[in-house]
Amino acid sequence: VKTLLDKQLGTAVNLSVRKSESKVADSVDIEDIGKQAVFCRCWRSSKFPYCDGSHNKHNTLTGDNVGPLIIKKKE
Ligand code: FES
Repeated sequence: VKTLLDKQLGTAVNLSVRKSESKVADSVDIEDIGKQAVFCRCWRSSKFPYCDGSHNKHNTLTGDNVGPLIIKKKE
């Protein structure tokens, strides 16, 4: 029986986003977010850190169920 750690070893979440950087971290000023901002959590977006809908293809191909983080202002 494989443990979760066994399954994680040798796998990468990030396949293509800014691989030359030792760590991908982003900062967004709250004032720059308008009504809402949609952030990628699947690491497949071509507009990372923002979601471009690529999670749908990823989920179809892998059986995964990931989706974006939506930050929005209260109305
Ligand atoms: Fe990654 Fe939408 S593209 S969560």
